[in-house]
Parts: sequence; structure tokens; C-alpha cells
Amino acid sequence: MTIRVLHVASELYPLLKTGGLADVTAALPAALIEQGADARLLLPGFAGIADGLADLRPIARLERSFGAREASLELGRVPGSDLPVYMIRADSFYARPGNPYLDAEHVPYGDNAQRFALLGWTAAQLAQHIDRAWAPQIVQAHDWHAGLAPAYLRAAAREHGLPAGHAHARSVFTIHNLAYQGIFPAQQFGSLGLPADFFDMHGVEFYGQLSFLKAGLYFADKITTVSPTYAHEIQTVAQGGGLEALLRGRTHDLIGILNGVDYGVWNPATDETIAARYSADHMSGKLRCKTELQARLKLAQKHDAPLFGVVSRLTEQKGLDLLLAALPEIVSRGGQCVVLGTGDASLEQGFARAARQHPESVAVELGFDEALAHAIIAGADVIAVPSRFEPCGLTQMYALAYGALPLVHRVGGLADTVVDASLENLADALATGFVFERFEPDALTAAIRRAFALYARSRDWRDTRERAMRKDFGWAVSAQRYMALYRELV
Ligand code: ADP
Ligand code: GLC
Repeated sequence: MTIRVLHVASELYPLLKTGGLADVTAALPAALIEQGADARLLLPGFAGIADGLADLRPIARLERSFGAREASLELGRVPGSDLPVYMIRADSFYARPGNPYLDAEHVPYGDNAQRFALLGWTAAQLAQHIDRAWAPQIVQAHDWHAGLAPAYLRAAAREHGLPAGHAHARSVFTIHNLAYQGIFPAQQFGSLGLPADFFDMHGVEFYGQLSFLKAGLYFADKITTVSPTYAHEIQTVAQGGGLEALLRGRTHDLIGILNGVDYGVWNPATDETIAARYSADHMSGKLRCKTELQARLKLAQKHDAPLFGVVSRLTEQKGLDLLLAALPEIVSRGGQCVVLGTGDASLEQGFARAARQHPESVAVELGFDEALAHAIIAGADVIAVPSRFEPCGLTQMYALAYGALPLVHRVGGLADTVVDASLENLADALATGFVFERFEPDALTAAIRRAFALYARSRDWRDTRERAMRKDFGWAVSAQRYMALYRELV
């Protein structure tokens, strides 16, 4: 039996991306189709999405618009693929330039509750056959943006008098990041059209406010998150963001499924955006990528200087304050560091200052640049991901594929994907990078020193790098896990 699954999300690579979520929504439905599922996507019609989708045609008018001037449902596809994508056309909500969540001043839009309620509500409408040609058996909602989908499904089941435990579709809620909770003032609840009793501790209420994330966690039939370690961590007070009790209560419905790498996009042997192609068997191109990167960013042309790279949102989560403090360690040992990122002003300024102080060894590009991200991961010897917490993390897996050894804090998906170059792991041919345990300056510094020590032993470095490049984090395994979960549900 083919399982029909609708993925509900707010980003899609390459049309609209602020982080790893976009990479996942692009790759996972395709991987599920490979496994025999009938998978589709539902997205808000943000500018990049509405302009980028091919063959859009109207499906239905949406009878609720949550205050948008007009709202309708269209169906198109991702150019160059057959993945069907439903898009909500509500221009007064979504056709705004720039970031999908924040205005030009980086403040969340005042009508975000309604903008994303429309997304969740439309998902429930699709389960109720608003498209006569197709309806999902499973609705998989990603992050708080889609968190109300399971709540609207529950509300519809009740309204139609379905027996307890039944609904128009079963639901899965996927946590990509528990730190973004979609919290709104309680007064906004009235505009959502949900049953009044849903505003409850057993429902969407969270310390007197309205939480879209909690709605997803409470009403979904199953909860997944993007790595096994993060699935454990979020059940603790330290990392549960106030939702640990709810998550512990649902521990039997909660599973961690590691994200994958789309090797169609991230493969140094075929990547047309980098200076030269290379593979574990033919490595010479990597040096060219490094030389070009140094030239482009005006660093000293030293091919024997270990080059540390960062490609990241510059937020508290990513732990780059710790790396900024450790930069002197890298520079004084003769290493170089390249940072591509955008976010917190203090981090942007801190890295920019370091680049001014050490123009030969430190380079910083503030912004979001997909091609430069590839160039850095290809040209670097080490990719640093010192995150305080990391649900999965994709850059460290991309780094493995490109033979840039990841240097990571042992949390979340980082712990699940990188093996430290300790003596014993080197001896047993397990090491693929550098892992530090405590989120403390001395622990990071020790990992940096370990990277320099290994770099000086070129034979060990090459072996470790080759092992890293041969790791397979393809989507197939993860897609099979989701399929097993869907089968349990339908
Ligand atoms: P998160 O989703 O928390 O930001 P991930 O590691 O899962 O972290 O995914 C980050 C994705 O965003 C990767 O594809 C990475 O290459 C990309 N990325 C992050 N910052 C930038 C940037 N400044 N320019 C280009 N790509 C970036
Ligand atoms: C979130 C997380 C990141 C994860 C990504 C995709 O943005 O911060 O760790 O890899 O989602 O699941």
C-alpha cells in the first residue's frame, strides 16, 4: 500500500532558506518517494516560493483567511523535480520581501500567529479533501510554523464526530529546534478558531501564553526530532525549554531520526560551484579549493596552514562566542580561520574586528551566500561547529563529505555524527573529527590543539580525512525510519 504523506513547512531549498530546515524539506520528501511513499509538500506562498515553483495552478479557495485579504490553495512542483508542492497564495500575508518570519528591523511580524495558523489550518483542510484529487493519510508538520496542523486535525475530528483516536489523517510533529517555540499573547487565541477548551495546560497554553510548538507536541500522534541524542536531551530540564515534562510524558511517542545529506547537492566529486572537483581517491582538487579560497578572501597563500572554516547562523545556539575567544590560539599556532555567517551584531562585530587585526589569517564574510558556503567547506581543513546545543546539524555532515574534519561540541546530532581523533579512536580507525565534551574555553582549545597535532602527522590526517569522506549519511536510512513510523500509524 502506498502511503500518502503531506509535509508542512515554511522553507524549501533552493527557493527559500534560512537554515537546515530548508535542506530537509527539499530532500526528505524525495527520499520518501524513493521508498515508495506518495509525498507532497505544503508551503506558505512567500515571495521566493511563489516565484520559484513551476506550473502553479489553482486548487481551491480557502474559506478562512485569518485576516489575509484573500487566500487560496495552488498546486505546482519544484522545477527540475516532480515533487508536488501545495502553496497557499495569500499575498497580504506572505508576499513580503526578505526574511519569512521577521521584518526589516528583525522583529517578528505582528501577525505571525495568523500567518502560520493559516498554514496549519490548510494542512487540516487537505486532510479533509479540499483537493478532490489527493488527500494525505499522514500530515507531518515541521517546527512551530506548522505546529497548529495537529490541533486543527483534532478539532476537525471532534467537529465531525469521529470516534476518539480517529482523525481525517494521522499526524507527526517534527522538532528541528526546540528553542523556537512560536509563542504569542493569549489574546491571539481567539483569532485561531480552535475550540475554547484547547487553550489549556493540556493543549496549546504555555505559562499563560499561546505556543504553536506545544500545540504540535501535544496534539500530534507521534513526535520526531532530528537526532537520537537530541531526542534524549530535550527530555531533560537543561534542554527541554520548559517542555521536558510534556516530552517525558510522551516518551513512547517520541523518536529521534537523524537527518541525512543530499549528495546530489553536497558532493565534492560533482559540485560545480567549487574551484575543482575531488574525491577520496583523487584529492588534489581539494588543495586548489583551499588556494582559491585563500585568494578570494585575501588570506596568506600558505597551503600548510590549517584552515578552519565556519558556515553558520550567528546565534547564541551556535557557540561561536567560544570560538571567537579561541581565535588567538588558532592564529598563534599558524592557522587560518574563515567565517561566513549572519546574525547577532556582537558576533558579527567580534569576528570582523578579528579579521581587521589579522588580515592574513582571519577572514569574515557577513551574509548568506550558498556558493561561498560550498567554497568554504571544500577549501577548509576543519569545519568548526562548537554549538551549545544542536538538534542535528547539517554542516558537520557536509564537512565530512568534503574532507574538512568537523570540530564539534558533543551535543545533539553532533555527538551522533562525529568521532573524536583520540589516540584510541585513531588506533581503531574510528576517528572522523574533533569532539569536545564541556562547553568551556579550555575544552575547545584542547580540541583545536588536537586538530593541529593531527595536522602535523600528515599520514594520520590523510587517513582520518579519507574515513570521514567515505561515511555515508545519505537520506535512504532516515527515510526508511520515517516509513516504518508511518506504517505504524496508518
Ligand atoms: P541550522 O539549521 O541550525 O542553521 P544546520 O547545520 O542544520 O543548522 O543547517 C545550516 C544550513 O544553512 C546549511 O545548509 C548551511 O550550509 C547553511 N548556512 C548557514 N549559514 C549560512 C550562510 N551564512 N550562508 C550560506 N549558507 C549558510
Ligand atoms: C534546525 C537545527 C539544526 C538541524 C536543522 C534541520 O535548524 O538547528 O540542528 O540540522 O534544523 O533539521
